[in-house]
Amino acid sequence: MASQTVSQITPQKEIEKSKVDAFLEKAVSDFGAAVSAALVVVGDKLGLYKAMAGAAPMNSAELAARTGTHERYIREWLINQAAGGYIEYDPASGKYTMTDEHAAALADDQSPFFVGGGFQVITAMIKADERITKAFRTGQGMFWGEHHQDLFEGTERFFRPGYAAHLVSDWIPALDGVKPRLEAGALVADIGCGYGASTIIMAKAFPKSRFYGFDNHAPSIVHARSEAFHSGVASSAFFDIAGATNFPNAGGYDFIAFFDCLHDLGDPVGSLKRARETLNNDGVVMVVEPMAAETVEGNLNPIGRVYSGASVLCCTPNAIASGQTALGTLAREKDLRQVARQAGFSRFRKACETPMNRVFEVRP
Ligand SMILES: C[S@@+](CC[C@H](N)C(=O)[O-])C[C@H]1O[C@@H](n2cnc3c(N)ncnc32)[C@H](O)[C@@H]1O
Repeated sequence: MASQTVSQITPQKEIEKSKVDAFLEKAVSDFGAAVSAALVVVGDKLGLYKAMAGAAPMNSAELAARTGTHERYIREWLINQAAGGYIEYDPASGKYTMTDEHAAALADDQSPFFVGGGFQVITAMIKADERITKAFRTGQGMFWGEHHQDLFEGTERFFRPGYAAHLVSDWIPALDGVKPRLEAGALVADIGCGYGASTIIMAKAFPKSRFYGFDNHAPSIVHARSEAFHSGVASSAFFDIAGATNFPNAGGYDFIAFFDCLHDLGDPVGSLKRARETLNNDGVVMVVEPMAAETVEGNLNPIGRVYSGASVLCCTPNAIASGQTALGTLAREKDLRQVARQAGFSRFRKACETPMNRVFEVRP
């Protein structure tokens, strides 16, 4: 196909119309993904997915009646959801259905496949776009706690399914000797614990151990305490407001975990130094970090796209706001190893991984 000039901006250059068309198609698809992210959050918050899960086919009036919502909004929402392939539409009956597989991902926040929290995180981070645009010029940071409330709740709902699926069954057993110690009764710290999902899962699995969750975001700690109470682990899972470089020593920890937070910290070396100071000599540190490759080209995939986006909008700004170092959400293994070495640890290895996470074992 002959090339033709299609842009005033590049008048000297011949560009291929077919390549422009292919890119525009991709961009329109991304428009749809971006706008639909907000609509997934709407559906999640209003219980629209829950109402459709396992139910007979329904039209907009039926879904509206079932969820106490206005039909006019539901009618548009259903078209968006069907256009995105999240639900199915039958033109003969004019009704919509949801497959059991999609219901597991969208309607059940206890399912290991639940993705609603991810959409909540992404739409919350997007709300910081003006502030982050300015930060590109000023170099200033933005603290975790300055984001929309949905970031905190969404993070818990995004990560908890993965922790529930892997932490006790795969990640802890992959660490040398840790599982028997937790079973026998160990002292554990969970740094940057957020809403405490990981702390509470461990406390339930290892009732003889004592768990301390620390985070410098006070509202998260309030929530974690309440969640521990409602989960029946308030007598073994304790939560306190504390920074990663100065969290209290509850008596010499056997096990210290950093779940998806080391790269958020402005002083990761100082934080691991504090871990080294408060860890027993035969203790173990577990660092769970997002999946990332060692090279830029290794991150040019859907997961790298998500995590590099989160890095710009949330993780790197928090690190810049709170210290001198910003590892980035796609922190390389060799940089994490270097941080551990600088903090005084001599052993560092990748113990296991899942599609979304890398799990490192760090020892004195
Ligand atoms: C991505 S969230 C992970 C939360 C939790 N670990 C989880 O996996 O659900 C990062 C957490 O690190 C916490 N954080 C950031 N900087 C911190 C610091 N300097 N000291 C303690 N916590 C910090 C944030 O408040 C937030 O809860």
